[in-house]
Amino acid sequence: MSDPLLTGAEVPIDTETTLAMLENDPASVYQRLRRDSPIVRLAAIGRIVFTKAEDVLRVKTDTEHFGSYDTTTPMQRAFGGHTLMRKDGYEHLRERRAMESTFAPSCLQHYWKPQFENLTDQLLADLAAKQDVDLLPTLAAPLSAAYLRLVLGVGQVSETQLFAWAQALIRGAMNASFDPSVFEISDQANAEMDQCFDAMIAKHMKTPTASVLSTMANEPDPIELSQIRTSMKICIGGAVIETRDALLSTLYGLLSNPVQLDQCRKHNTWGQACEEGLRWVAPIQASPRLVKNSLIMHGLHIPKGETVMAIQASANHDEAIWKQPERFDAQRTTHNNQTFGDGPHQCLGGGIYRLLVTEVVLPKLFTRFPSLSLKSDRPVEFKGFAFRGPTSLPVRLT
Ligand code: HEM
Repeated sequence: MSDPLLTGAEVPIDTETTLAMLENDPASVYQRLRRDSPIVRLAAIGRIVFTKAEDVLRVKTDTEHFGSYDTTTPMQRAFGGHTLMRKDGYEHLRERRAMESTFAPSCLQHYWKPQFENLTDQLLADLAAKQDVDLLPTLAAPLSAAYLRLVLGVGQVSETQLFAWAQALIRGAMNASFDPSVFEISDQANAEMDQCFDAMIAKHMKTPTASVLSTMANEPDPIELSQIRTSMKICIGGAVIETRDALLSTLYGLLSNPVQLDQCRKHNTWGQACEEGLRWVAPIQASPRLVKNSLIMHGLHIPKGETVMAIQASANHDEAIWKQPERFDAQRTTHNNQTFGDGPHQCLGGGIYRLLVTEVVLPKLFTRFPSLSLKSDRPVEFKGFAFRGPTSLPVRLT
């Protein structure tokens, strides 16, 4: 039999797309790519990207050809160690399992939900005294910090501190040029986080909770301290900003479509609204994978050793699955979006985010503020290529 690798054409190169286009309006870029050239090398980022839903899913789940193992990325330096997200096989599974019980369905309902209800009630009570507010600094950011403080088990770390750590980790992980001034900031954040985790571990050993840190530290055969620390940093770098952004996108979608919002209120379909917000604008737009073994996809040769990008934001707008994908539609019944990824590295926090938003925040917010509306007709601005969300959400509460 002839070697199939000899028959694949080289992946075409796109020189039309600029970094500014990806930053400001990625959905239009991906719509064009899905139509004209779904697997393509983007000259602007020097990577092969996959934009169709079935291909993105394959990149995430075909572990024979695509892997995560990589010790050469800036992420390792930025996170102060080799994280589970850049590992494969048993090495990855062992570290992932050490966190899993925090996110078990029974723990979500019985342990976390009542605590999320309390902190949401407090935040909404603070809001009640106001009239015109931006929901980013007054609801989405403090809520994200407050629930993650509990879920991660990091004590009374301030909202400002959590966001600064998350930002430092993300910027460091994307520091492709290994600019020392960027790593200086992530080094400082790492030192602060390690100190915080070590102090909190001592507390969790005496008084365990169901939090991620407590669970990892109290395992009968715990993973190494270095890996407890890097896993905590994955949760901070991958959840603090993303929860804020996903919630804001969902709220903006609902508030700019009052008829849909009324339907959600009437039929209590907050789960559908939450899912649509996740689909509409994926907070983490793309994930890298390393090609472990060369393969042919749609007649194109994907060479071993390449780092490729699976664009989940584009998969979520694939016309093969969703009609009018650019439209927010809280009544959609198709929900297989890829916002939390798939395969061995699928997000561990998807269930807890959905619980927070579907069962607590949306019903409570729209019950407490029945006339909540957008303050301006001007469209809200979204920013970001790798990470994406609204830059503000001005509303009138009553
Ligand atoms: C809306 C909020 C969130 C979004 C959009 C999001 C998205 C993602 C995505 C796309 C991945 C997979 C990356 C890949 O395939 O390489 C991931 C992994 C991960 N997420 Fe999330 N995430 C969110 C919230 C959370 C929360 C709340 C937690 C924990 C408290 C969390 C913890 C993790 C962990 C530990 C991984 C790594 C899993 C592994 O490598 O096995 N995430 N997340």
